[in-house]
Amino acid sequence: VIDIRKLYAATGSFTYDPGFTSTGSCESKITFIDGDEGVLLHRGYAIQDLAEHCDFPEVCFLLLNGHLPDAAEKENFEGIIRRHTMVHEQLTRFFSGFRRDAHPMAIMCGVVGALSAFYHDSTNIDDPKQRMIASHRLVAKIPTLAAMAYKYSVGQPFMYPRNDLSYSENFLYMTFGTPCEPYKVNPILSRAMDKIFILHADHEQNASTSTVRLAGSSGANPFACIAAGIACLWGPAHGGANEAVLKMLEEIGSVDRIPEIVRRAKDKNDNFRLMGFGHRVYKNYDPRAQVMRATCHEVLGELGIKDEPLLDIAMELEKIALEDEYFIEKKLYPNVDFYSGIILKAMGFPTSMFTVLFALARTVGWISQWKEMIEDKDQKIGRPRQLYTGETRRDFVPLAQRG
Ligand code: ACO
Repeated sequence: VIDIRKLYAATGSFTYDPGFTSTGSCESKITFIDGDEGVLLHRGYAIQDLAEHCDFPEVCFLLLNGHLPDAAEKENFEGIIRRHTMVHEQLTRFFSGFRRDAHPMAIMCGVVGALSAFYHDSTNIDDPKQRMIASHRLVAKIPTLAAMAYKYSVGQPFMYPRNDLSYSENFLYMTFGTPCEPYKVNPILSRAMDKIFILHADHEQNASTSTVRLAGSSGANPFACIAAGIACLWGPAHGGANEAVLKMLEEIGSVDRIPEIVRRAKDKNDNFRLMGFGHRVYKNYDPRAQVMRATCHEVLGELGIKDEPLLDIAMELEKIALEDEYFIEKKLYPNVDFYSGIILKAMGFPTSMFTVLFALARTVGWISQWKEMIEDKDQKIGRPRQLYTGETRRDFVPLAQRG
């Protein structure tokens, strides 16, 4: 009989860490999180400062290049991004292969992966110039593809990007504009969009980023790696949580049902969890959630939405949960997804687009992490081990003698 554990012990060190709760997989200079203190820094800058003072392209530049751009660098970067906003015309036909009711995240997995078939030069990942071009293409094209996924789902014509608009304005225009009537982008909403993108831009080695790194560690095409990240993000325990939060708030329906919901969340025999609460790393208030809550009030104010029952339910739920022993003891605080759904709904996005917007914003984080990994000479192909708990060696029995 083979004792697998002895075998592992004989081969040197072996760490069994399901869910990688305490295993570092790489070195990184991009994002720092102190989960106990509720701190999030990108390249050393606090997320609150970036959300307050920067626009999204500046944060993209920062993540990709390591420093905030000066005015000339910013202009040049924005020019490069504008140059790449269009997608190959042939890709538009790719969309029509999907059912109209396909989830837009399913479409995104497909079309972003398909970019790898259009940009063969990106297979030369050893060339730093090509790596940067692939990164720029992704950041530039992802809003176009996300807006196309939306337009396809509602049966409206695709809108071509408008390069006289800012990154967020252009995305709102491609999503909500139509060829029939002029669409004027509300500056408060485009600023809120920018903030939402900034708050989702990167978050160190979360599940989808680790997926991108793992896929990229084999030398795969960067567009295919980002498609892998999108697939991972889709799950309700990760990026799909913003969609799940809104569904949950709608199901709760009224403030008086909150105690019952909180009871269910605490019941060990019930699989129900409070969506938008808890985080693997933050054991304090997620700093992104604080900015998101303030943005939520701004957007509803701008749109003149005085009574939003979902916001009332969310605020009451937060209040009750934060005073509850169970949530205090387990350090469960609202995360970034808790308020984002309410803002996105108010802006006119259907729930099925929420995770797409997350993917759009996170693309720059994914590709920055991918680039950093490729540039790290010590990086090996990712290859976790396992603790084998199956059968030990058995004698083979020919088919005729089984049963
Ligand atoms: N509601 C109720 N109880 C919870 C919740 C919740 N939202 N989250 C965690 N718990 C409890 C668990 O039941 C567990 O209890 P136990 O110790 O008695 O078994 C304990 O808190 C620890 O939970 P884990 O699942 O072990 O924590 P983990 O770090 O693996 O999970 C996660 C983190 C997935 C985010 C979890 O908190 C969760 O499912 N939250 C709801 C989904 C969500 O909002 N996801 C978005 C995360 S942020 C992002 O991806 C951008």
